[in-house]
Amino acid sequence: MTIVLGADAAGIAEAAALLRRGALVAFGTETVYGLGADATDADAVARVFAAKGRPRFNPLICHYPDAGSAFRDVVPTDAAGRLAERFWPGPLTIVLRRSLHSAVALLTGAGLDTLAVRVPAGETSRTLLRAVGQPVAAPSANRSGAVSPTTARHVLSGLSGRIEAVLDSGPCPVGVESTVLDLTGELPVLLRPGGVPLEAIEAVAGQVARAGHAADSPRSPGLLPSHYAPGLPVRLDAVSVAANEALLAFGPPLAGAGLVFNLSADGDPTEAASRLFEGLRWLDEQGAARGLQRIAAMPVSERGLGLAVADRLRRAAGPR
Ligand code: TXA
Ligand code: MG
Repeated sequence: MTIVLGADAAGIAEAAALLRRGALVAFGTETVYGLGADATDADAVARVFAAKGRPRFNPLICHYPDAGSAFRDVVPTDAAGRLAERFWPGPLTIVLRRSLHSAVALLTGAGLDTLAVRVPAGETSRTLLRAVGQPVAAPSANRSGAVSPTTARHVLSGLSGRIEAVLDSGPCPVGVESTVLDLTGELPVLLRPGGVPLEAIEAVAGQVARAGHAADSPRSPGLLPSHYAPGLPVRLDAVSVAANEALLAFGPPLAGAGLVFNLSADGDPTEAASRLFEGLRWLDEQGAARGLQRIAAMPVSERGLGLAVADRLRRAAGPR
């Protein structure tokens, strides 16, 4: 049984107590719902992988209530300090060398000598993290390979019965995962585009290198090409719609589609990010019910959060 907790003081206190006891609790952040476990408890972290059905080699992000606690588990750099100052709390994850005295379980970082740390925005998640008093490891709260959840209902549809609780703080405002930036090398490397636009990061940290494509980048094993896949196959860059296709629109929709979800009628990439996973889920359910065979996705502008949206769509369309 998975219990649903409200985001009031009692619900947050109960969620924190469960996490401290080694239970799995999904919680909302500004990006997507995370599947939380005490990051220092290897058994709890192992159960996260089991609940998600996720390959073991995929390292998890550690979540903290503030930069001070995050930087105790890693070796911060100047750039990390500036980025934290500017973007935390917020949708930026920083990969740094793990500090020698960190109590984070090795399994959390999949045995790497680096650790991904982040301070999420959103009062509920920060109050929860403060109450837990330990770093909380949290991948997105979906079954491995499935679309990330942006509501408690999405979490339950994939993980009901497999986790102890979900703390329902309503829909996630950003809607795509955090930007993941590797600061362990000479130049910062963008491992995953996300909620903080690349342009904004470059304004603070200077030039950022782009990671090679996921398949040839063992450094970020989580970036599998087929991540985020809905049930129906996805066709990218659609300029027309077939009779057996549902349409994921961006801007004015293509003519002739029977089933349409518009990411943003105005062509706004930030709005598109916040509606992406909801749209994929909705088209999947409704499309399957109507016997449609595919989702045709219109091209999305790569400005701002559009880069993250386009990246997730490419993965959704990737080889299964
Ligand atoms: O917005 C988010 O980041 C959400 C919320 C819940 O915080 N979390 C999330 O976690 O998306 P997950 O596990 O689905 O994705 C984490 C990404 C993966 O691509 C993983 O490979 C990468 O971060 N990652 C984690 N630790 C890493 C490390 N030490 N080195 C390189 N990449 C790392
Ligand atoms: Mg994920």
